[in-house]
Amino acid sequence: MTWHRAAALEDLENRHVVGIEIGETPVAIYRLKDGYFATHNICTHQHALMSDGYVEDGCVECPLHQAIFDIRSGEALEGPAREALKTYPVKIENGAIFVDLATA
Ligand code: FES
Repeated sequence: MTWHRAAALEDLENRHVVGIEIGETPVAIYRLKDGYFATHNICTHQHALMSDGYVEDGCVECPLHQAIFDIRSGEALEGPAREALKTYPVKIENGAIFVDLATA
């Protein structure tokens, strides 16, 4: 595993999702009731940032055409997107969120 520091916990203190780049990979980091999760930040339908989407009940709604994805699994629950979002392992250490892109 190759862990990359993605954000500070405080970056998500007042919001449910932030978008960052790790190298050239756009990543969305989410804060849910039971922890932190990460997915690729580009919708699998067209080009929209999931970090601009609406987060509710463990799902994120794409801001462009309202596809809904399960944040934990990446599964596309409602179209028009059909393909799942890539998900990435997350760990918390020393007040920071780390993401592993390699084992996705
Ligand atoms: S770009 Fe996300 S649903 Fe179309």
